[in-house]
Amino acid sequence: MESLQDVYPDAEVVYAGKAFLTKAMCCLVYQEGLGLDVVSGGELYTALEAGFPAERIYFHGNNKSRAELMMALRHGVGQIVVDGLMELETLIQLAIETRTRPRVLLRLRPGIEAQTHTYDQTGQEDSKFGLGVGDGSALEAVKMALASPQIKLVGFHSHIGSQIFAVAPFKAAIEVLATFMVEVQAQTGYVAPILDLGGGFGIAYNKSEEPEPLRKIVREIGHHTRVRLTALQYPLPKLVLEPGRSIVGDAGTTLYTVGNIKTIPGVRTYLSVDGGMADNPRVAIYQAVYEGVLANKMNEPLTEVVTVTGKCCESGDMLIWDLPIAPPAPGDLLAVFGTGAYNYSMASNYNRLPRPAMVLVANGEAELIVARETYAQIVQNDLVPARLRLKAPEERIAK
Ligand code: LLP
Repeated sequence: MESLQDVYPDAEVVYAGKAFLTKAMCCLVYQEGLGLDVVSGGELYTALEAGFPAERIYFHGNNKSRAELMMALRHGVGQIVVDGLMELETLIQLAIETRTRPRVLLRLRPGIEAQTHTYDQTGQEDSKFGLGVGDGSALEAVKMALASPQIKLVGFHSHIGSQIFAVAPFKAAIEVLATFMVEVQAQTGYVAPILDLGGGFGIAYNKSEEPEPLRKIVREIGHHTRVRLTALQYPLPKLVLEPGRSIVGDAGTTLYTVGNIKTIPGVRTYLSVDGGMADNPRVAIYQAVYEGVLANKMNEPLTEVVTVTGKCCESGDMLIWDLPIAPPAPGDLLAVFGTGAYNYSMASNYNRLPRPAMVLVANGEAELIVARETYAQIVQNDLVPARLRLKAPEERIAK
């Protein structure tokens, strides 16, 4: 995000791994010079396994377990983003036990309702995330943190939501945070070295969605933060942004193979593909609207309209409603665009479907970065108590 560094003196971009994280992705993130936001022990493990430097990691989450916090402390994770008072107490205690001194950011809940799907809102007063600026818990946490020599408070964080199209809610959040930081300074003398405004920059999944250009949003965030803090005579902190979707969303394309096609006269044509809500639950959860094409019929006119459905045993397993398409046939390849973020990372084995392979494509070269899951892997954690074990077929016959 060059444009951010143009308008703000000291800025860092931290990739939000929840959008898509594998070991190869961690390596790419490192090579691009970004930091990494992880939100669970599993994501942290992935990063460490890939060799990602722990000090460049931000560890988020509203319910980090003691084991996860211990893992972060043991590996020297650079920033732990504390989400609540109880977690702060736990972390202080663990820091004493491990004789470490973690760098801590406090996640604030600014009370901003960003315009997006309700499941993608995180900054409103009634949210499970963060310490309330309005209810006094944020200030209480600051005082507790400053009174604890076992941790080092390095700043504040807020993330108001995801798939946000406009800059206005970010500006509203900056306003709340700036006022809070000035208040903290007045009451305690503390000046924050880091201000992390989270991610949430939206992408267009279809032609009707029009987010403000990322470059513009980011520049305005940087500009507004600098102008507001300068006006309040607050020393400029390092500004951190944590984009996930806007980095990987458009980079992803899912390739499905067309299977059965069923026309219900006067109703619609269902075109079934060899995936569905198991690899893309976003349609069912957020009513996301995707676009797709038959990759092997790109030059044919779009004379048909079909509804693309997955193979899960579920009527909500829909991928695209009413898609104009070239005349389809079993075996065609359907490419669905914009599936790089929150698809593989939210995929499940529902109906015991193996998760697909992931292929990295760049400069005309394709490299496998996630192998296709096998049936053997699907059953690998299954255990059968001896009393339930089925007899081998030959024993049954002998009986
Ligand atoms: N930072 C924090 C603390 C977050 O919680 C998130 C996303 C991000 C950064 C990155 O947000 P992004 O730039 O990707 O919008 N599964 C939902 C999205 C959930 C986002 C969770 N947090 C979806 O598919 O729409």
